[in-house]
Amino acid sequence: MKNLDDLLGEGVQGRRVIVRADLNVPFDKNQPGVITDDGRARAVLPTLIALRDAGARVIVMSHLGRPKGAPDPKYTLAPVATRLAELLGSPVVFAADTIGDDAQEKVAALGDGQVLLLENLRFNEGETSKDDAVRVAFAEQLAAFADYYVDDAFGAVHRKHASVYDVPALLPHYAGGLVIKEVEVLKRVSESPEQPYVVVLGGSKVSDKLAVIKALLPKVDKLLVGGGMCFTFLKAQGHEVGKSLLEAEMIDTCSALLEEADGRIVLPVDVVAASEFSADAAHDVVDISGIPADRLGLDIGPASVSLFADAISGAKTVFWNGPMGVFELAPFAAGTRGVAEAITKIDGFSVVGGGDSAAAVRTLGIDESGFGHISTGGGASLEYLEGKKLPGVEALEK
Ligand code: 3PG
Ligand code: MG
Repeated sequence: MKNLDDLLGEGVQGRRVIVRADLNVPFDKNQPGVITDDGRARAVLPTLIALRDAGARVIVMSHLGRPKGAPDPKYTLAPVATRLAELLGSPVVFAADTIGDDAQEKVAALGDGQVLLLENLRFNEGETSKDDAVRVAFAEQLAAFADYYVDDAFGAVHRKHASVYDVPALLPHYAGGLVIKEVEVLKRVSESPEQPYVVVLGGSKVSDKLAVIKALLPKVDKLLVGGGMCFTFLKAQGHEVGKSLLEAEMIDTCSALLEEADGRIVLPVDVVAASEFSADAAHDVVDISGIPADRLGLDIGPASVSLFADAISGAKTVFWNGPMGVFELAPFAAGTRGVAEAITKIDGFSVVGGGDSAAAVRTLGIDESGFGHISTGGGASLEYLEGKKLPGVEALEK
């Protein structure tokens, strides 16, 4: 797999380089256009700066959210172009379409050392199409913009999408430093984790995490489960969970996992139960045996934080994916904060996997230097740990 240094060594002055970045940043739900965490944009800066400073004409492409293959102003990358320019300390030209007239004109006009961001890739059906021919046709138009392709979108390497999988087949291709670093760290965690190995999983759905739970269970000393997904496990243990998130069809699967784990899956012992999904909702800490029928659990409780922190404290390796509660709402942030802080204190190697957990660390103001590595990829890091082939990495290896 060739990397960015190989490309820089070949010389990029005056050459067009198209860079796949993952600029899928979270936005404030109440204030359109306001980015709540620009970690993913920061993570790709070294690549963009190196190319810009070497005199390349840099064309950046990314997805944002999940628009349905047509332009949707809700998902424009325009605010991200503004932020990127601030972070780079130099202008970023923004194209109002991805491969249309505006993009073509702006690519043609791009000067040496200038940076252009194309509009959201997913405004085009070709980006995510399951039909190879449709994807390739779109990829050909993107590839026509450039002499070289660089992938530094680790967060999207698990997607068999045109910009990730098909463009690299059409151009000389290179892995950016972020992709290289992320793969190196995940390799270390999955192939040779120093024991004890503790995995912390949160987030809303068991179904999303099932494959990774199955893959990791044989390797871990403890698997701590919080977030919305813990309620299906608690239900499988016979607890009533009120109006909490529940995947009824997963209860039997959770029972089987609990049995297989033989005590190594650790569940919360208390939760913060709220009257509704809102920062102003009435809420109390309740024991898991007493979740009221009209309440929903939105965070793990303080006794659970202590229990989890205790399990984490002796670990030599920790992998964490998924918030413990609705950390975006202040009354339900303590669980995620407590667990994150416990992870920063271990005498070992910790990896924060994922968009949401990484964003939680930064929005809660937790010292990032306390972690061994903060990944920019949620789904991507989970799929790596599941042992799946990542289409974006495969494409770079070819
Ligand atoms: C992410 O946020 O996980 C990545 O940017 C990939 O986005 P996706 O899950 O919509 O493909
Ligand atoms: Mg995602």
